[in-house]
Amino acid sequence: MPIVKVNKKNIAKVAEIIKAGGVVAFPTETVYGLGANTFDAQAVKKIFALKGRPSDNPLIIHIGNLEDLGRVAELEIASSVHLLAMANTLLKRFWPGPLTLVLPKKKEVPYEVTAGLETVAVRMPSHPVASHLIHLAGVPIAAPSANKSGRPSPTSAVHVAEDFGDELFILDGGKTKIGLESTVLDLTASPPVILRAGAVTLEMILDILPDVILGKGDAEAPKSPGMKYRHYAPKAKLILIGGEGERVIADIQYFINSHSDLKIGVLASREYAVRYSGARIVILGSRHRLDLCARNLFSKLREFDKLGVDVILAESFSEEGIGAALMERLKKASGSNHK
Ligand code: TXA
Ligand code: MG
Repeated sequence: MPIVKVNKKNIAKVAEIIKAGGVVAFPTETVYGLGANTFDAQAVKKIFALKGRPSDNPLIIHIGNLEDLGRVAELEIASSVHLLAMANTLLKRFWPGPLTLVLPKKKEVPYEVTAGLETVAVRMPSHPVASHLIHLAGVPIAAPSANKSGRPSPTSAVHVAEDFGDELFILDGGKTKIGLESTVLDLTASPPVILRAGAVTLEMILDILPDVILGKGDAEAPKSPGMKYRHYAPKAKLILIGGEGERVIADIQYFINSHSDLKIGVLASREYAVRYSGARIVILGSRHRLDLCARNLFSKLREFDKLGVDVILAESFSEEGIGAALMERLKKASGSNHK
């Protein structure tokens, strides 16, 4: 099945597939999603099978309007007045957009979606194709990123096709704008916890929730089950080199010089790229434009697969703003944070 252009006819066709219990790939502003009807447990199971996703890793539910929030999240319970107030303020400020909220689950949502949890992760994407699709399907769409489990998330329709070949209809919405997955914020925890960093940054959330904390990504006791697995992995081993400035340049060049038997790739900033010799250089972007580095990260990781390198050395970046999300992905890609 093909990559199809975004037009009314194709969005309608793909919505019909969802209604009929099928799985499709569609663009969002963050990364492409692999979607099915949230309320159809059998359809949701197909997502796990296609991705090769561990069954203890829950999916994000995508909604098209605020009424849909009440269909998937339990907002009426008395104990959650405070939680409801927090959710309302956040969604007024950040929806539609790249913020996922973890909230108490409505009983109608099958446990297949939440991997047995009593909470749901919900977001309202801002991509017009995603909202149109959800609207036409008439149901909230449960969707993880549209990559095989462990692979870099797809930021173009071609990436989805690289992982799934002919298995799916893929709506081609071009290159995604943000390029990293949404921020996941658990409002059922006290204090609220950022389980995954994203384009809605810690600094932005602190403005609204002064007590919010960053999750540790603790592999032993994962709050967001997905965070314990190795992620975003290109085929070659990735080594994240700490620090900035002359030290990181020297460390990377030393590694290249002392491993002349290996085909080495360097994921470099535009500023430092010219300083290396004897390796394949892929430029992530300028240190002054971390938003563009974030946008390009997953496609650059996939480029190394085509270069066929044995090892990738990645520079570190500032962890301010979107840099935190970028560095979280690089750490995960290096496997330094997994079991
Ligand atoms: O930007 C995104 O979030 C993209 C697009 C397609 O919307 N989706 C995405 O989904 O990145 P996925 O499945 O790759 O990541 C979902 C993350 C996982 O880390 C999962 O563990 C976490 O959300 N999650 C889902 N439900 C949860 C819950 N009830 N409690 C805690 N974490 C949850
Ligand atoms: Mg994913």
